[in-house]
Amino acid sequence: MSRKIYVFDTTLRDGEQVPGAKLNRKQKLEIATQLAKLGVDIIEAGFPCSSPEDLKAVAAVAEQVRGPIIAGLARAVQADIDQAWQAVQKSERPRLHVFLGSSDIHLQKKLHRDRNSAIEMAVTAVKYAKSLCPDVEYSTEDASRTDFDYLCRVIEAAIAAGATTINVPDTVGYAIPEEFGALIRRLKETVPALDRAVLSVHCHNDLGLAVSNSLAAIRNGAQQVECTINGIGERAGNASLEEIVMALRTRSALFEAHTDIVTPEIFKTSRMVSRLMNIPVQPNKAVVGANAFSHSSGVHQDGILKDRTTYEIMRPEDVGIRQHSIILTARSGRAALRHKLEEIGYKLEDEQFQRVHQRFINVADRKKEISSEDLASIVEIELSKVRETFTFQDLQIMSGNTLMPLASVCLLKDGERKVDAATGNGPVNAVFNCIERIMEKEGTLRDFDLKAVTMGKDALGEAMVRVEIDGTIYSGIGTSPDIIEASARAYVNAFNRFFAHGHNGN
Ligand code: KIV
Ligand code: ZN
Repeated sequence: MSRKIYVFDTTLRDGEQVPGAKLNRKQKLEIATQLAKLGVDIIEAGFPCSSPEDLKAVAAVAEQVRGPIIAGLARAVQADIDQAWQAVQKSERPRLHVFLGSSDIHLQKKLHRDRNSAIEMAVTAVKYAKSLCPDVEYSTEDASRTDFDYLCRVIEAAIAAGATTINVPDTVGYAIPEEFGALIRRLKETVPALDRAVLSVHCHNDLGLAVSNSLAAIRNGAQQVECTINGIGERAGNASLEEIVMALRTRSALFEAHTDIVTPEIFKTSRMVSRLMNIPVQPNKAVVGANAFSHSSGVHQDGILKDRTTYEIMRPEDVGIRQHSIILTARSGRAALRHKLEEIGYKLEDEQFQRVHQRFINVADRKKEISSEDLASIVEIELSKVRETFTFQDLQIMSGNTLMPLASVCLLKDGERKVDAATGNGPVNAVFNCIERIMEKEGTLRDFDLKAVTMGKDALGEAMVRVEIDGTIYSGIGTSPDIIEASARAYVNAFNRFFAHGHNGN
């Protein structure tokens, strides 16, 4: 009999801990709505005590997103639990997720507590959480480096205090699959109280083993996996949702386990998270990377043409990568655009459609065909835009290998054209310098990524930047058939995020 594995998605909490990936309320809601469509069982929407904005964003998810359980994270202290509860209580299915370090390293170096007093602290916190919410998850942080007997004592005490899910995190990605699987099996055999709780795992990817460890845990009795879309998260990231789900599906006979994930929603969710959080997906990323289903060697192509199963263990359509009927060009009308948008899963309000249509025309004038991927990129960038203090208008560039690049840029502010010129050590640098001159604000470029949305010489370029402005990192994204324009749009987008955080544009 196939066991159901609960999918606990923490993209909006652990995933959001990636520097520069901070989401605003609207963006969190958009991703949470898509996660519900994807069929995750639990959405960890945030860490409400981390900021008043996050508390409000988690509350918005709890109030508006129906279907999954909505969890809020809290340290094992009353003030955190109160804020987490304030955030999630309006959900039809709220969960409080309380955590406390359990390894000696955490107890001695971070918490300055002995084992007994840490158990007392955990019990007090779980009891308090339980007095507010029937669904309480308790995480034994750094479990994989915790003394086994002590770990059993903590788990027993947390269940006796009311925890309904026990999470065993490999917080620092230290575990090795055989060892982690054995830990889960031994816990199940040693702690009878686990019969009354769901046993969960939460694996980090510091040694690249997060998915393997999660799967080993499932084979040994874990009932819930905590994971993120595209594997994003603290440091090297978390276990990737799509990889775990597709491994269970592809090798269902071996695992005798399944999830309720609607796998054709995977690709769209992956791209949405990548764009809204400004974290590119590496081309060779399993399941959702641009090359995951492309075959380049002649032998493989020959095999695929004879029968796809020769070199494909999953079908692209199973994860939502589809070929679409209509090809859009500059001559496509509004009806065709609407049709195509609906085909790829976007139902837009009139005002949103206008914005997307305008940008579509602008891009289609310069690119022969607009693919589904191009369109998805345009939609998500347009819809995720913050209030624009400055709007990109146009740019000119003079560049070559023997002259210093010179850029002239025009931005619109309050309806007025603002134009300036600047040099730089390359054309993109010249454009960024020019944008800073117009905005009268400097930033430090921390990260710059440029990729083609699709194949081909006339591919749409998508630029992602992370810019440090006044000590905080803001990310920006831009798209255009011209990569310098895409970069300029991304840079302006990052500064607009800075201005949207209450700073004044000159
Ligand atoms: O990695 C970790 O231990 C965590 C806990 C809060 C579950 O993220
Ligand atoms: Zn974590």
